[in-house]
This record gives sequence, C-alpha cells and structure tokens, in this order.
Amino acid sequence: MTTLTLVQGDITRQSVDAIVNAANSSLLGGGGVDGAIHRRGGPDILAECRRLRASRYGRGLPTGRAVATTAGNLDARWVIHTVGPVWSDTEDRSELLASCYRQSLRVADELGARTVAFPAISTGIYGWPLDDGARIAVATVRAADTAVEEVRFVLFDERAHAAFARQAG
Ligand code: AR6
Repeated sequence: MTTLTLVQGDITRQSVDAIVNAANSSLLGGGGVDGAIHRRGGPDILAECRRLRASRYGRGLPTGRAVATTAGNLDARWVIHTVGPVWSDTEDRSELLASCYRQSLRVADELGARTVAFPAISTGIYGWPLDDGARIAVATVRAADTAVEEVRFVLFDERAHAAFARQAG
C-alpha cells in the first residue's frame, strides 16, 4: 500500500530514499528541478550521467524512461532521472507522461527505495498544463504496482500544490 503525500517546497531538500529529476534526454543538466538537483547535489551526479551517456544511453535517455544515479551531496541516496514529454497542442502525449511516473517507480523498486519524491514532471519548462499534469501524476501513482511505501509530490508553489490537492482529494 503506497501512501501519497503532498508538500510545498524544494525537492532538493527532501529526506527520502530517492528524488526524481525532471531531466531531458541529454542527461547533462538544464534549468528548473534539473538545475537545482545538479547545483545542490554536486558534480558526482553529472559524472555518473556522463558515464551513462557513454555506455547505455549513447543517444540519450528516451522520453518516458527512467534511470538512477547517485544523489551526490543530497540527503537522498539516489536520483532517478526521467524525461517528461514536451506539451503538444496537436498530439496526445499523456501516455509518455504516465510512463515517467511508472518507470521511475520501477527503478525505485529495483533499487529498494521505500520513499520517493516526485516533482510535477513536464509542468514547468516543458509547458504541460498543471491540472492535467497533476491528474496524470496522481492517477498513475495510485494505479502503480510498487513496493514504494511513500510517494511524496513536492510542489514548488501554492498553485501547483493546490492543483495536486484537488486531484488527490
Ligand atoms: N523543487 C520542486 N519543484 C520545482 C523546483 C524545485 N527545486 N524547481 C522547479 N520546480 P521543470 P519540466 C517545479 O521546468 O517541465 C530542464 O531544463 C516547476 O515549477 O523543472 O519537466 C530539464 O533539463 C514545475 O512545476 O521540468 C528539461 O530540459 C515542475 O517543477 C526541462 O527543464 C517541473 O518543472 C524539463 O521541463
């Protein structure tokens, strides 16, 4: 049974087993959550991302997939990097967004992580409408078959927190 919790705050400050990064395919960093994780987590995370690019993911991590690295200087043990879809007005990419949550939980299970913090994937730079992003996040985690005991959604501002609270009921 997975407990779903919502907090407003900075995902890099969470004491959980694994933090999920809203990354991009390059795995080499960016803005938003990705920038914050690499800034606070230090260079070990990027070094491991570079090794992944040089080995398993020469063409980058595909959208909807997830892969773990060390969490460097963060409190967490692992960072699970996933690549959300960019919002499209013309194409329904919801399944790819749901896949980010499912695949991240699958990786968490492989690691033995019991507490996992997620940001609102794709709802920042990638432009996904917040209410729909929250709906997909909550529904996918609720339906997931996982040994993770706590999924914590960490929402950066009041608006995102309210959107997730409406979905979580
Ligand atoms: N803690 C929690 N949530 C945050 C934080 C934080 N420190 N910082 C931002 N958010 P985004 P995306 C919220 O843009 O849309 C990067 O350049 C933010 O308000 O981080 O998936 C990557 O490299 C929003 O609600 O991720 C990719 O290129 C949510 O986290 C691209 O951005 C996600 O916003 C990924 O874009």
